[in-house]
Amino acid sequence: MSMPNLSAASTVTEAINTRKAVRAFCNQPVSESLIREILTTALQAPSSGNLQPWKVYVVAGSERDHLVQAVIDGYTKNPSGEEPEFNIYPQALTEPYNSRRREAGEVMYSLIGIPRHDKERRLAQVGKNFEFFGAPVGLIFTIDKQMEQMQFADLGLLMQNIMLLARERGLHTCPQAAWSMWQQTVRERG
Ligand SMILES: Cc1cc2nc3c(=O)[nH]c(=O)nc-3n(C[C@H](O)[C@H](O)[C@H](O)COP(=O)(O)O)c2cc1C
Repeated sequence: MSMPNLSAASTVTEAINTRKAVRAFCNQPVSESLIREILTTALQAPSSGNLQPWKVYVVAGSERDHLVQAVIDGYTKNPSGEEPEFNIYPQALTEPYNSRRREAGEVMYSLIGIPRHDKERRLAQVGKNFEFFGAPVGLIFTIDKQMEQMQFADLGLLMQNIMLLARERGLHTCPQAAWSMWQQTVRERG
């Protein structure tokens, strides 16, 4: 999360319409009280059986910097990440989803002027995930291993609440599956 260059949303519709995955943040600090306020409200998200199956770890300041450094070190040595606990996408993604995924990547890289063959710059861009794209605050979401798919839906509802509440306060966000590639390092620092 980071302070915005766009104004705050004053309706849910406006929050939804102005939310986007931001991948270049300024480092203006976000106060702990603001984060607590967002989380307190967001945690009213519904969950199946009221399990509230989520845990949210907030990292800022030196905690954030140490985590970023540990993961960047890992990424530099091994860009494929650690042994995953789950697949981010299905192994054999079918149409139309495969084309959507490819197109999203192509549009993003071409917008920032990285050609398809420039593996080095593509890797560097992916690596920005692990700096939270420069945001001063990172939220790490975890869920107990025993949970099923429905509880992942619950987690998504919580995350969307957070992203929309952030918009209401003039903040932007980027949801990131990429951090799941570093589950071991994240757990060790938790
Ligand atoms: C669960 C989830 C995981 C995502 N993971 C990443 C990620 O690791 N890195 C990234 O740059 N964007 C990630 N995104 C952002 C999506 O690429 C983005 O939401 C999508 O392209 C639509 O764009 P928009 O959010 O700007 O509307 C993720 C989004 C979701 C919902």
